[in-house]
Amino acid sequence: MSEAIQQIQAPIAKELTYFDKYFRSAMRTEVALLDRITRYLIKRKGKQLRPMLVLFSAHICGGINPSTYRGAALVELLHTATLIHDDVVDDSDERRGFFSLNALWKNKISVLVGDFLLSRGLLMALEHDDFQLLKIVSHAVKMMSEGELLQMEKARKLNIDEPVYLDIIRQKTASLFASCCETGAASATDDKDVQERMRLFGEKVGIAFQIKDDLFDYGDDDVGKPRAIDIKERKLTLPLIHVLNKSSWAERRRLINIVKNHNTDPKQVRYLIDYVADHDGLTYSRAVMQQYIREAEALLLQFEPSPARESLIALMHYAIDRKK
Ligand code: IPE
Ligand code: IPE
Ligand code: MG
Ligand code: MG
Repeated sequence: MSEAIQQIQAPIAKELTYFDKYFRSAMRTEVALLDRITRYLIKRKGKQLRPMLVLFSAHICGGINPSTYRGAALVELLHTATLIHDDVVDDSDERRGFFSLNALWKNKISVLVGDFLLSRGLLMALEHDDFQLLKIVSHAVKMMSEGELLQMEKARKLNIDEPVYLDIIRQKTASLFASCCETGAASATDDKDVQERMRLFGEKVGIAFQIKDDLFDYGDDDVGKPRAIDIKERKLTLPLIHVLNKSSWAERRRLINIVKNHNTDPKQVRYLIDYVADHDGLTYSRAVMQQYIREAEALLLQFEPSPARESLIALMHYAIDRKK
């Protein structure tokens, strides 16, 4: 784990240990094959940004309680399920620096494991009559699937502009970040205005987070998952969208032709990546990302100063400064 993240986690270190236990127990199963796979998943855990958002949001809104942990576990289960399905959809063989589930166990098993995790999360909330949690999170599940499908539709036609791109990432990624903050807040306070402010905060952080993720695709660093895969999957993201908008008709045709017909040719893909970097695609995306983070910070500054607020601000910056 990186030092930066360890420092951010410090105020909720004990709570995160408890969450971890809870999360593991939710994955338990009698089916031997499934058990082997969930063990594999537990060994390669991610950054756990979403449960941290839930816990910190509750913290800042009044305090962490048992229902907060269920929220944190539910969102991480759902997130894990989504990643497994996403790797099937994107035909991706690496996740968190290791083989993805579909690379090891193939698509059929991966789809079923994703469904199992999602249902485990929903049942866990149901067992405790956490209806508000279920309402908030089910809404995100719907938005996430719609977002991924909208993205696939656009990938087919290759007609995507900046507003549509932002709409896609708001749905597929930011909706879950929004739910994390809203559900954390709702577990600690009944104040609807505060819950809405936290929801909006999460949404803005989520949009910035996905812009960062899309920037990774244009980079050369090892991020624990394949790069240039968005281009391969014909996903137009902000760096390229911006450059396409400013390019001449002929250049636009050339770039689109690479995405459409030569997206597995390393030389052509390199040309596209370099072209995007040379024409301000990356700097422009970073500027948009930072604007969302500034807006998110302004929402947080409406809360009384506290160590939890400071941690949340640090976490928000981590979401866009991270190396993985
Ligand atoms: C990856 O999310 C999926 C996206 C929404 C881009 P994370 O980067 O939070 O994944 P883990 O859980 O840390 O691996
Ligand atoms: C995130 O988009 C999709 C989800 C919301 C799960 P990506 O397809 O870019 O995520 P990574 O890069 O595979 O993690
Ligand atoms: Mg993917
Ligand atoms: Mg990605």
